[in-house]
Amino acid sequence: MSCFEGTTAIVTGAGGGMGLAIAGDLLAAGAAVTMIDLKPPPDDPAARHPKAAYVEGDVTDDGFVADAISATFERCERLDYLVNAAGVLWFDRDRSLVDIDLDLWDRVVDINLKSMVHTCRHAVPLMQKSGPGKPSSGGAMVHIASIQALRGDSAPQDAYQAAKAGVIALSKSLAVQFAGDGIRSNALLPGGALTPMQARWDADPAARQSAAAGVPLGRLGTARDMANATLFLLSDKAAFITGTELIVDGGRTALP
Ligand SMILES: NC(=O)c1ccc[n+]([C@@H]2O[C@H](COP(=O)([O-])OP(=O)(O)OC[C@H]3O[C@@H](n4cnc5c(N)ncnc54)[C@H](O)[C@@H]3O)[C@@H](O)[C@H]2O)c1
Repeated sequence: MSCFEGTTAIVTGAGGGMGLAIAGDLLAAGAAVTMIDLKPPPDDPAARHPKAAYVEGDVTDDGFVADAISATFERCERLDYLVNAAGVLWFDRDRSLVDIDLDLWDRVVDINLKSMVHTCRHAVPLMQKSGPGKPSSGGAMVHIASIQALRGDSAPQDAYQAAKAGVIALSKSLAVQFAGDGIRSNALLPGGALTPMQARWDADPAARQSAAAGVPLGRLGTARDMANATLFLLSDKAAFITGTELIVDGGRTALP
């Protein structure tokens, strides 16, 4: 039996590339999933799954997040997993801190980092309440950061980069704070991946090929690659893994 059978998960950014793939995999593995996104439900079997609840709203709104998470707990009577996949990368406007618009900085950090504060502060107490004896271990969280948090960039996206570094830091803090409850927390660091966020590559095959050529494994990532890694980190196979980062980038950051 899948370790996800009979469990409950929250996935943010579930209308987008990675979040949708992750929600679909969790549903297929037997979990009930609340899918949260700003966008209306995508035309995808996951969003229509009988164990899915798709909730439209903004993860920077603490009241909305609180309501979505408590409604999940009321519906399913437990909460085992949280995946923070909502994010934005505004290439054209997110630039060097020297000349970025400061309101834009705040919005990017709110969406990519502070949203994690909202989801975790409402989810963790309910994960604790779900308590021992749950179908899986103590429960787990995966927060999607980025390899961008590990390096500088000649085409800077400073707000995104700083926010993603904050995600890694908070993930470690959560891991230590809640290890006693058996709750694990890990960050996933994707390299460039072909999702709606990177629609710029659909319009520019030469740029896409050039980005792929810079990856040792010779291609860009996919939502499937990230869902596979996320399901592993959530699963009992990762029972002794917490407070760390899993880089999923085809070897990009291993290059000198
Ligand atoms: N695609 C990549 O190359 C790449 C690389 C590294 C990290 N990431 C990260 O992976 C995660 C998933 O991104 P993706 O590639 O699937 O992109 P995506 O754009 O397909 O999905 C992101 C989803 O987040 C949702 N979202 C944005 N702001 C929101 C808000 N305020 N409230 C609720 N939902 C909101 C969007 O509507 C979208 O559906 C993001 O955190 C992203 O930063 C992506």
